[in-house]
Amino acid sequence: MKKIKILLSEPSIPESRTIQLTKKVLKNNFPNEGNFTKLFEKKISKLLKVKYVVSATSGTVSIFLALKALGIKKGDEVIVPNITFPATANAVVLSGAKPVLVDINKDDLLINEKSLIKKINRRTKAIIPVHISGRGSNIKKILKIAKLKKIFVVEDAAEAFMSKVNKKYLGTFGDLGCFSFAPNKIITTGQGGVVVTNNKSIYKNLSKLKDQGRVGPTTGGEDIYNSVGYNFKFTNLQAVLGLAQLETINKRISILKSHYAFYKKNLAQTRNFKLFEFTKGELPLWTDVYSTKRNKLFEYLKKQRILGRYFWFPLNTCKPYKKSFSGLKNSKMLTKKLMWLPSSLKLNKKDLSRICFYINKYNLNKNG
Ligand SMILES: Cc1ncc(COP(=O)(O)O)c(C=O)c1O
Repeated sequence: MKKIKILLSEPSIPESRTIQLTKKVLKNNFPNEGNFTKLFEKKISKLLKVKYVVSATSGTVSIFLALKALGIKKGDEVIVPNITFPATANAVVLSGAKPVLVDINKDDLLINEKSLIKKINRRTKAIIPVHISGRGSNIKKILKIAKLKKIFVVEDAAEAFMSKVNKKYLGTFGDLGCFSFAPNKIITTGQGGVVVTNNKSIYKNLSKLKDQGRVGPTTGGEDIYNSVGYNFKFTNLQAVLGLAQLETINKRISILKSHYAFYKKNLAQTRNFKLFEFTKGELPLWTDVYSTKRNKLFEYLKKQRILGRYFWFPLNTCKPYKKSFSGLKNSKMLTKKLMWLPSSLKLNKKDLSRICFYINKYNLNKNG
């Protein structure tokens, strides 16, 4: 079979600028976390209009750090939507707490407010709304519930870097927001992530936790370590990768927006096939669709060398989180019906036309 040509996502790394910045790191002979890490955090703080940014080794670790910085521990419960990347729930388990699965909305795939209210009890310490594909329009409702019930909100904004709701960046609404820079995101540092917050004491906790419990700045052998901590440093080498890509962030945003607009304009939506909407300001990292014949459509596209991606299995069907679909009826209804269309930054109009042509051909001619 010929090599797959059209992909869900691909890194888009400006080579010469990255090499130029990498050379600076090498010249300083300081590949560890350092001044470029600080600069990367500062740029993100400015972009997202948030006070504090703490980098870490991945989005998963960012969520873990966020929970630990809030003091979440064994015996606590944290509410997680049933349809998300397992990282969200895995980070909760890593913190010692128990993830409690709740249903999602069938129209926007976001955590369902009614379902989550039912699961709040005295052990509940936090909610993690997940901004699927860059969508997060119910965040204000979640904040309201959290405030009323006196629990924390940790936004899983792994897929929502630079996405806005009412002119405010997702990830900056809750007590903390967590982002991922894995290779399928709008910018990538190979692996990596950041936690953001406007709360100084949370920021201090995060900084200590990612560095062995050390109260910075580093002085050498007599540093003070006043809590348990870890090593989740984000190196200068990773930071320069990110910095080079941040220089073209506006272009990246407009490319992703135009991909979605192209799909919206050119794909015929039917009873059996529909695109999920984005509200104004939300940034579609990937275009997600509902298809009653998802698996067949996916295989058909693959034969045309067009590679989308199936959504994850609902968490309640995965071994570590196994439970019945009781209270999770939307998740059940959507199982095996969700997929992402190719959304790579490198797609051009010709690619997008080809994708639309084959999807329409499949949906209208064969199954309409
Ligand atoms: C919704 C969601 N949460 C968390 C993560 C974890 O991020 P990372 O892969 O950087 O650990 C991802 C994915 O990459 C994700 O898509």
